[in-house]
Amino acid sequence: MSADAESGYPAASDERTSAGFGHPHHHHRVIDSTNRLARDLANAGAPHGTVVTADEQTAGRGRMGRSWLALAGKALLLSAILRPLDERHGLLPLAIPLAVCEAAESLAPVECSVKWPNDVWIAGRKVAGILIEARPGDGWAVIGVGLNVAIDEAEFSEEIRGLATSVGHGVTVEAARRAVLARFDRWVGASSTEVLTEFRRRDALAGRRIGWNDSSGVADGISDDGNLVVKTDAGERVALSAGEVHLTVE
Ligand code: BTN
Repeated sequence: MSADAESGYPAASDERTSAGFGHPHHHHRVIDSTNRLARDLANAGAPHGTVVTADEQTAGRGRMGRSWLALAGKALLLSAILRPLDERHGLLPLAIPLAVCEAAESLAPVECSVKWPNDVWIAGRKVAGILIEARPGDGWAVIGVGLNVAIDEAEFSEEIRGLATSVGHGVTVEAARRAVLARFDRWVGASSTEVLTEFRRRDALAGRRIGWNDSSGVADGISDDGNLVVKTDAGERVALSAGEVHLTVE
């Protein structure tokens, strides 16, 4: 989640949060960023489940201040409002890629893994990125997903060709939206145990050499609080927190 998620969660209420993503649905042909609009709507009191989609973004936002580029009409660009956000959602950043993995696998004969904290990979290439922007104090989060749906290798920009992939030919953005939202309903309400078990099964980094800041080591799983455990070259075991580190994978 973005930095403003760090201030702690309010206690859980009885309000229902684990069902109903997709209503209301605001679709734009072109927008600056679906996350930007969803945040504005959340600030203005839009209900849980509200979804913003677009065919094209002019200022798509990625994690750690990066931008997100997607081919018009060929990627799912979706932002959904979760509210109330509370103590049950501590592993939300790990739960959402699991929903995206299951959605992709329901649409095409692919197998997805997750590069901690929440990049979705197919065969070592990124198929989806997730940007969660949370306001725990106000009790909401915006869950942003960019999923490449049906993009030819040659259509990716040179910068990401060989690093990016898409779900598969013949898959529509509309089908991808339905599949992803249905799995949000399942994974946003999942227990920590379920999320951790499934994330560990899909962990793309386990056993791989990684680098972060000025350090390097071998990824050694996910701690119960969702951090990445690494055995450093100096022989220590450290836990890395999402948002604090930019990882490179060797
Ligand atoms: C990343 O991997 O850096 C996260 C990318 C998230 C991109 C999606 S596209 C829909 C939503 N709107 C945005 O501006 N960003 C997210």
